[in-house]
Amino acid sequence: MGNCLDSRVKSLNPSTTRPSSLGTSTAGAASTFTTKLSSFSDSTYDNFNDSEGFSEGRILEAANLKVFTFAELKSATRNFKSDKVLGEGGFGTVYKGWLDEKTLTPTKSGIGIIVAVKKMKSESMQGLAEWQSEINFLGRLSHPNLVRLLGYCWEDKELLLVYEFMPKGSLENHLFRRGAAFEPLPWSLRMKILLGAARGLAFLHSSEKQVIYRDFKASNILLDSNYIPKLSDFGLAKQGPTGGDSHVTTRVMGTFGYAAPEYVATGHLYVKSDVYGFGVVLLEILSGLRALDSTRPSAQHNLVDWAKPFLSDRRKLSRLMDQRLEGQYPAKAALQAAQLTLRCLAGDPKSRPSMMEVVETLEQIEAKKGRSREGRAGNSSTIMKEQSNYHKH
Ligand SMILES: Nc1ncnc2c1ncn2[C@@H]1O[C@H](COP(=O)(O)OP(=O)(O)OP(=O)(O)O)[C@@H](O)[C@H]1O
Ligand SMILES: [Mg+2]
Repeated sequence: MGNCLDSRVKSLNPSTTRPSSLGTSTAGAASTFTTKLSSFSDSTYDNFNDSEGFSEGRILEAANLKVFTFAELKSATRNFKSDKVLGEGGFGTVYKGWLDEKTLTPTKSGIGIIVAVKKMKSESMQGLAEWQSEINFLGRLSHPNLVRLLGYCWEDKELLLVYEFMPKGSLENHLFRRGAAFEPLPWSLRMKILLGAARGLAFLHSSEKQVIYRDFKASNILLDSNYIPKLSDFGLAKQGPTGGDSHVTTRVMGTFGYAAPEYVATGHLYVKSDVYGFGVVLLEILSGLRALDSTRPSAQHNLVDWAKPFLSDRRKLSRLMDQRLEGQYPAKAALQAAQLTLRCLAGDPKSRPSMMEVVETLEQIEAKKGRSREGRAGNSSTIMKEQSNYHKH
């Protein structure tokens, strides 16, 4: 579910990102589409098939996606019934659907495989761009930590995407929602999720033609039945710089609270801008607090600004740690994770670690877990009590 505090799709010049109508002429929309899709494919993926360095992942030459009819997806989701809604984001609603495993044709509830069907808001130009980007990037990337796109539908003004179903939902829900379905995540699971998500980002960054994900945040990290994290939502993904450039210049888009400061200030998007977003999620995982929350006292609205000083030593850190962990985490590992967070959140992108380094550091923290049992690591203080109130909105 889209974070109510997110200000998704923003721009230094807001007028440029206002969603506008797709127009009434389907033929017009269609021709624009085809041109964009094909030109994008040619320019973006020429020489993008070098699989060196992708021990776990693959870049496919052509997207291997099923083209669904609208009727098929309508039937799979029982006419987009409200009780089949899995979540809602800035550009569409995600429904649960049922398909035959082999033919991917609609089946009765409870038979076949469950899929997630994202139905884009049809009047949004940005939705159209995101739909295209998702197909061009996610349709061609394959990695254990990226969600699988199974196919898409484009019929009249209807744009839909069909993904593998992620039974445990988003990390955002687990960190911030309350209720029986959202038991607090134990420390070890938090680390496992971070490591998998870091591997997904490292895979994107390590290709010869790097992919900048641009929208790394807790709601875009989905969890399978074993809590294996997979990145979803490639709508804002961007090909990295070429020809020795350090960055690409783009209109500023993303989510407030997660977007890197240099990108927000200048529109210069670095591969390391993703590392900043990773640092924000790392901080959310440690603290159990949202990146942005206007229900907190004003000095604490922005988590990074407020929490950075708590990351430097063990005593201060214990006051920041998520109260829901009830002190059950290895203090040394937590401090190492906090130090990594600080490096990811460095103001200068060059000072941030690469995602490969992040993966290695998290692996080292993981490797130590066998040697040090999770235990009590300092008591929560007044701050923690205050934080618990913030969770209630
Ligand atoms: N493949 C999936 N399996 C299960 N649930 C999913 C899947 N994809 C999305 N969801 C659920 O639907 C919600 C909405 O997803 P969506 O990507 O549209 O928006 P968002 O990430 O919450 O916000 P934004 O539009 O800002 O990216 C997710 O947060 C998640 O709970
Ligand atoms: Mg999303």
